[in-house]
Amino acid sequence: MSLKGHRALITGAGQGIGRACAEIFAERGAELVLLDKNADTLRELGGSLDRAGMGVSTRVMELTDLDALASAVHDLSRDGLIDILVNNAGFDRPGTTVKLDCEGLESVARIHVTVPFMLIKLLLPAMREAGWGRIVNVSSIYGAIGGKGEVAYSTAKAAVIGLTKSVARECGRDGVTVNAVLPGLTRTPTIETFMAEKYREAIIAETMLGRIGEPEEIARVIAFLASDDASYITGATIPVSGGWGI
Ligand SMILES: NC(=O)c1ccc[n+]([C@@H]2O[C@H](COP(=O)([O-])OP(=O)(O)OC[C@H]3O[C@@H](n4cnc5c(N)ncnc54)[C@H](O)[C@@H]3O)[C@@H](O)[C@H]2O)c1
Repeated sequence: MSLKGHRALITGAGQGIGRACAEIFAERGAELVLLDKNADTLRELGGSLDRAGMGVSTRVMELTDLDALASAVHDLSRDGLIDILVNNAGFDRPGTTVKLDCEGLESVARIHVTVPFMLIKLLLPAMREAGWGRIVNVSSIYGAIGGKGEVAYSTAKAAVIGLTKSVARECGRDGVTVNAVLPGLTRTPTIETFMAEKYREAIIAETMLGRIGEPEEIARVIAFLASDDASYITGATIPVSGGWGI
């Protein structure tokens, strides 16, 4: 599961699943390019990885600013090939179809679908040229089963599955694999801060393992998909949900 010799760009790396990915990827030898809009969390993480001797570049940025994103990727690619992409950043705007407006739907789709699409467009040509690349998109169980009161998020996460399978079909012959993980309820700062206990309990009641997941449990599967051990897996959508949504 070594990631030595590879350089991984991870979005939303400041906290939660993205941060767990950064730490596990670093332990396994990858060089890191970490993007997040939260300057405090990103700089703290970058500093601690740097002090531990890991190769890391950080960029504080709003990912939905697509011109800024393209220019950052262009700059960062000058320091070496980025051959692993983890599309992780996201946020939720809860609401039912009748209550949510189109702006709400589009803002959720922009970070979960447009930003990954853009990053794939930017990074795929160099991966193809190198004959090796790994793209891992973070979807959600809601993308597979839908969520009552989560129409924008579930729709966007379903689109992530369509994006994953379509790009996998496009670039398999070039040595680039594209997969998605579908996390279940995972203990991240956002869930702990914003999700009411009663909603968490309702999901845990439907989770076979009877507990919330830890960010590292999702990140280890992402790291596997990014490694050579997953060389014959592409277009897969892997639930990492403790059995929720089976
Ligand atoms: N936590 C869960 O229960 C759960 C379940 C299923 C799927 N997911 C998915 O996993 C991914 C990570 O989730 P998490 O719970 O770790 O999230 P989180 O909210 O704890 O962290 C997300 C990170 O992304 C960054 N980010 C968000 N929007 C950004 C933007 N526009 N520009 C730059 N940075 C931005 C935030 O600053 C934050 O550091 C998301 O795609 C989420 O939808 C999470």
